[in-house]
Amino acid sequence: MNILIVGSGGREHAIAWSVSRSKRAEKIYCAPGNAGIAELAECVPIGAMEFDRLADFAEEKNIDLTIIGMDDPLVGGIVDVFEKRGLRAFGPRKNAAILEGSKAFSKDLMKKYNIPTAAYETFDDPDQALEYLKSCAKYPVVLKADGLALGKGVLICNSFAEAEEGVRQIMQDKKFGSAGDRMVIEEFMTGREVSVLTFVDGKTIRPMTSAQDHKRAGDGDSGPNTGGMGTFSPSPFYTEEIDRICRETIMQPTVDAMASEGRPFQGIIFFGLMLTEDGPKVLEYNARFGDPEAQVVLPRMKTDILDVCEACIDGTLDQIDLVFEDNAAVCVVLASEGYPVSYEKNVPMYGFENFKGKEGYYCFHAGTKLSDGQIVTNGGRVVGITAKGSTLKEARENAYRAAEWISFSNKYMRHDIGRAIDEAE
Ligand code: AMP
Ligand code: GLY
Repeated sequence: MNILIVGSGGREHAIAWSVSRSKRAEKIYCAPGNAGIAELAECVPIGAMEFDRLADFAEEKNIDLTIIGMDDPLVGGIVDVFEKRGLRAFGPRKNAAILEGSKAFSKDLMKKYNIPTAAYETFDDPDQALEYLKSCAKYPVVLKADGLALGKGVLICNSFAEAEEGVRQIMQDKKFGSAGDRMVIEEFMTGREVSVLTFVDGKTIRPMTSAQDHKRAGDGDSGPNTGGMGTFSPSPFYTEEIDRICRETIMQPTVDAMASEGRPFQGIIFFGLMLTEDGPKVLEYNARFGDPEAQVVLPRMKTDILDVCEACIDGTLDQIDLVFEDNAAVCVVLASEGYPVSYEKNVPMYGFENFKGKEGYYCFHAGTKLSDGQIVTNGGRVVGITAKGSTLKEARENAYRAAEWISFSNKYMRHDIGRAIDEAE
């Protein structure tokens, strides 16, 4: 099969790596890709939102399957464009990607189908939002821009003053652009967070192994929210009993709800869950692999990714046995100092050769590029260093050792990825 992957981050590098291991993969392309992906795939300079150019390319190169890594093109309807031209693409159509594209949609869906989530109200008008917040007795309260905001459109406000400022940022200053035309105000939940990525074919759902992200920039969950500074998999808190409850009360009901709404979901549903005292509840849905969740989940997946993606498109997922290795993985993100606020780019990077021939160690590129034959930084999250181990503790030790193999002058990382594991043991 000839494969095209759309995206340019660590997630797409992990997808490309997984595809490269498939016996069925022949030629792999990635648009636009990055310096690391270029070692596995031919990178083509077409942007992820250039749907017609991507479809032209897929036709020209006889691409058998296009895998969309990113949320923006999915929410924008790339799969519909491909389908209309008779091209096979993995990911939800526009009418299903709205599960991630609109928080108001997903909250209303959960309410209608009794899927456990935080209580909420939706607002189109900032004055009404403020009126509601004045009467809202319980702080903290959570404000969410309705649309896509690079994982940053969520504000946790501890007082009315903070919430007032939040409404201003989201709805009036449009800090997250048109994503803030509508807003969800939500009850604050407490508990442990778990990410469960799942394959879905419209009716059947097959959960992958669990993972946990670390969204804050600094150690001890300090500092601003980021796209994710590191992950571990599996989550020891996601027990068999919790898994059973989630499948019954959250996962299958979500798939069935989307089908009932005439929006059959085919692709990946990423369940952001909070394990509360009242049981597991949905924090958010995403319509694609998580980043950096993919960097710990895919290296542990034994099943051929192309078989699973095709089964999702063909509606035959019930015939797939999804199998993961009985081990653990930890990913530590190496970022540019100052991320997510402001940081320097084009900094030369060294040490990639240390990963050559090391089984169970991976350097997934997120923001890198090749400049005159030298790999340089090209983003806030630069690379994700993943290592496997027989236990989470061993995987963490391995990942932190490997994190030292790469150097660049403004390298920054968290030192406590997976620290929570110690509590579980
Ligand atoms: P989201 O993009 O919706 O996953 O939100 C980003 C982060 O904000 C989550 O990973 C949680 O840590 C936090 N968060 C979102 N919604 C809530 C909530 N209702 N209660 C507590 N924390 C939340
Ligand atoms: N790591 C969270 C996300 O991909 O949305």
